[in-house]
Amino acid sequence: MRFCLFLVLLVFSINVCAQSTQSKKPLQANDKSDSQYLQLENLNHEDEFLFELFNSKFKKKYETESESMFRLKIFKKNLEQIREHNSLEGVTFKMGITQFVDWTREEYLAGLQQKKINLDERKKYKVFSETGHLESTSPDEMVINWVTKGAVTAIKDQKDCGSCWTFSATGVMEGRNFVLNRKLISLSESEIIDCDQNCAGCNGCLVEHGLEWVASNGGLCSEQDYPYVPSDQVCSKSKCKSQVNCSEIVFVKSGDEDALAAAVQKFGPISISIDASTASFEFYKGGVYYGQECSPSLLDHDILVVGYGTLNGQDVWLVKNQWGTSWGDNGYVYMSRNRDNNCGIASSALFPMRCTNY
Ligand SMILES: *[C@@H]1O[C@H](CO)[C@@H](O)[C@H](O)[C@H]1NC(C)=O
Repeated sequence: MRFCLFLVLLVFSINVCAQSTQSKKPLQANDKSDSQYLQLENLNHEDEFLFELFNSKFKKKYETESESMFRLKIFKKNLEQIREHNSLEGVTFKMGITQFVDWTREEYLAGLQQKKINLDERKKYKVFSETGHLESTSPDEMVINWVTKGAVTAIKDQKDCGSCWTFSATGVMEGRNFVLNRKLISLSESEIIDCDQNCAGCNGCLVEHGLEWVASNGGLCSEQDYPYVPSDQVCSKSKCKSQVNCSEIVFVKSGDEDALAAAVQKFGPISISIDASTASFEFYKGGVYYGQECSPSLLDHDILVVGYGTLNGQDVWLVKNQWGTSWGDNGYVYMSRNRDNNCGIASSALFPMRCTNY
């Protein structure tokens, strides 16, 4: 597996993007083959039983018996950590079986590449620093939810490719285009991966560079016309027609969660980068995520804020990930809001001001 890792700002920030291993279907109670996987939610089952279900659900294939034994060992170790977390008092989120449970810590963090971003370059962008925004009046209310407003495409899966930066870029353009032009068009990550020669495709890049490429290209094709492939391919943009063109990148004032909330309310879904290196994030399965060991400046994963409000009486961000629907809460994560910029949620937030569609 590979990741993408970039230094993003604030002294030494790092950008990893972990990948999930394969596409997954959302669980459906009426689907016989899927309903058996609901047992994966019950961690009281024996390890070996869960391991078998896990292998079948995530279509894991181990070459040899000893590889299989090795994976079982890691699976057990991670499961122990997951069960321990869930048994702690006062935890606000649960951990569970995601596609990463048979991976070692080293594998999750492996293949990182570092790149420093030029702080002078950041200065060329406009900064949004307004703060007025609506707040929840009840303990379980999303004040802004762009998913229910129809501005967010279905959960995608980056798989074995460090392309998180392209998903964050398409997500923010899809949303902004919806807000401005009332049309939701799923956009192509692979066109950016394959055609943006200033970036490293599956080996990563910065979200703003992906967006700049789109503007210089005069737009981006749809997901349908230029489908996702989790590897670097030959650029074939001449085979499709640009559907959406966005430009004028604006950064939200770094570290300012009030400005981020105002931006989400005013402009739509916003591209963000976070620290996703913790095991608690790797195995997150629902509830209000709080990363105790999270860094606000070591940013290693690019995703999308699609709303905010309160959940179980706590201030939250609603965040869309691209690790399939088996990770997190059907592919989403509720991240802590107003808890000191936890995991750097507001450290590197941006969006394009203008979008046109053809
Ligand atoms: C679209 O692309 C053109 C050509 O690269 C660019 O000049 C323009 O500003 C872009 N943005 C919008 C919103 O049309």
